[in-house]
Amino acid sequence: MEKEKRLNFREEKLYFSDLSGRYITVAIGNSYVEGKDLILGLADSLEFLKTVPDESVKLVVTSPPYNIGKVYEERVKLEEYLNYQRKVAEECKRIITEDGSIAWEVGNYIYNGEIFPLDYFFYRIFKEELGLKMRNRIIWRFGHGLHASKRFSGRYETISWFTKSDHYTFNLDAVRVPQKYPGKTSYKGRNHGRPSGNPLGKNPEDVWDIVLQDWEEQIWDIPNVKSNHPEKTIHPAQFPIELVQRLILALTNENDTVLDPFGGVGSSALAALLLNRRAISVDRDENYTMIALERVKALVNGTLKIRKIGTRIYVPTGKEKVAKIPKEWLKNESS
Ligand SMILES: C[S@@+](CC[C@H](N)C(=O)[O-])C[C@H]1O[C@@H](n2cnc3c(N)ncnc32)[C@H](O)[C@@H]1O
Repeated sequence: MEKEKRLNFREEKLYFSDLSGRYITVAIGNSYVEGKDLILGLADSLEFLKTVPDESVKLVVTSPPYNIGKVYEERVKLEEYLNYQRKVAEECKRIITEDGSIAWEVGNYIYNGEIFPLDYFFYRIFKEELGLKMRNRIIWRFGHGLHASKRFSGRYETISWFTKSDHYTFNLDAVRVPQKYPGKTSYKGRNHGRPSGNPLGKNPEDVWDIVLQDWEEQIWDIPNVKSNHPEKTIHPAQFPIELVQRLILALTNENDTVLDPFGGVGSSALAALLLNRRAISVDRDENYTMIALERVKALVNGTLKIRKIGTRIYVPTGKEKVAKIPKEWLKNESS
């Protein structure tokens, strides 16, 4: 069986086009294989995870399917969905190192107009059933999305960060962000009159404004806003690479392994490779996996379009056409 499983493995060596001689080794197949920079697992997540050795991964980061009927999932009863996810979670706990982490990004499951915040259910699995420790519940806030008519429009999802032990990697300096008022000084005590902040920047806090759609260098009235993000592929629920990069910088060190059990078009893997980490990305969809491979090739060729980490979110000046009140509305007001 083990042999059979490995039959459909294929491997590639991708050379960076900068002529430096650097390369990454990639394996594509349905089980774990030792010593690669990247494994693209084309398999059911649970089946693949069973082949990954104990304590071999520093960070599991993912956005699982939410069971809301997206093209890549079949809607099932919440209990059935959670039963499968629980098994995946157990495997994730097994494969992370003692100082490792799990970062689980979810939104809501929706049934009959009622919302079920999935992080509530995953907290019970990771904390109460598996005994992991929660370090943050990060709010990922974004500016755009569906407009609800029977409840407030949803504009955030959460990233639950759990660790296996109290001795976990957390590189705060690697993810500090610029202070709003770097010139602020201490007003009393020994440091009176001296700058009060950290010259490396401040803690990025637990509410993250990372854009889903990038308006910055784009024309304002493109109808399909989703296509505005430079990283957009055909995948309907893609991670911004920037979001994963922050987690990887903070929770892992160079050469550590990052695994995404629901890897889609490889956004977590790209973030990991960009930061000199090893990556494993698992998805059962062949199309997405091939797009992931193409994106990795683009990364190596220097043609991958990404939104650079820390790029400021565009703030409208008020002069843009779409920022002005439509003439029709003004007419209604005066009549
Ligand atoms: C929310 S998307 C993740 C997208 C990913 N973060 C990205 O940036 O491309 C969930 C992914 O899980 C995959 N998936 C769903 N059920 C799966 C399963 N049982 N095993 C493996 N992959 C699965 C889907 O094909 C989909 O691409």
